[in-house]
Amino acid sequence: MSTYVTVINGRFVDEKDAQVSVLDHGFLFGDSIYEVVRTVQGKLFGARQHLKRLHASADALGLRLPLMDEQFIDLLREMHRRKPGSESYLRVIVTRGVGELDLHPASCTSPTVIGIAKPLPQWPAESYSRGAKVILAGVRRNPKNATDPAIKSGNYLNNVLAIVEARAAGAAEAVMLNVQGHVTECTTSNVFMVQGGELHTPDLGEGLLAGVTRSFVLELARKLSLRCHERAISASELLAADEVFITSSTRDIMPVAAIGDMALRHSPGPVTKRLMEAFKTVLLDPSNLIA
Ligand SMILES: Cc1ncc(COP(=O)(O)O)c(C=O)c1O
Repeated sequence: MSTYVTVINGRFVDEKDAQVSVLDHGFLFGDSIYEVVRTVQGKLFGARQHLKRLHASADALGLRLPLMDEQFIDLLREMHRRKPGSESYLRVIVTRGVGELDLHPASCTSPTVIGIAKPLPQWPAESYSRGAKVILAGVRRNPKNATDPAIKSGNYLNNVLAIVEARAAGAAEAVMLNVQGHVTECTTSNVFMVQGGELHTPDLGEGLLAGVTRSFVLELARKLSLRCHERAISASELLAADEVFITSSTRDIMPVAAIGDMALRHSPGPVTKRLMEAFKTVLLDPSNLIA
């Protein structure tokens, strides 16, 4: 039995029958946007924040979302309900839709809404107890004035190239620099460092996705009276950090043990450990969950 639950334009179909047209501009040009929501105790976590970002991505592309927020919530709920097992990874994709074989989207009159659900990935326990290895990718992150990384689009070739580099080096993630040589983010996660007991993460102006987990972590850190700096961070600063961790909806907070051949001083370090522990309360906070 397939581990995927798939739905296209409201119709739940078997994964092998879940097909989109070759003329869908999402397939042809990566002209699509998406979000990934995970469940916590069977409830949707951070779904409002994900929908807000879906709207921002849609606005950036001039793409009309064909569903109201409550309809997206119902869709996510139903995807989770139909998926066997406890916690879910719920991906919703909105493509430009079917049109002519022409870059311009004018011929695409009806966006395609696709849902794919699978069990929430389980990362190796060691990645949390000892930390994960990442690399500094050779490939640079798209500049903000090209395909803006703030848009969560289906255009992920930049990240594909970087994760291929990471896996070839036996690493779990790749930190990507922008063309100025500043740290941006990883292929599917945001990056933080701890220096002198204070938290630092690249400013959104550096060209990165405004991660939902990133925002939760910044909010949490402020509540814990940790000083937070969103700023430009050079690669050498990251390599010299006391602690580094990455964040994403499927990973939460994952400590980094090494960047390439450079082992971090602490993994997980005291600040990372404190945040990892406190993040459990964020995950269970009823105001972040939709049943
Ligand atoms: C490029 C990129 N950066 C960061 C993230 C983390 O974002 P979030 O915390 O919203 O899952 C993702 C998530 O997939 C991503 O694709």
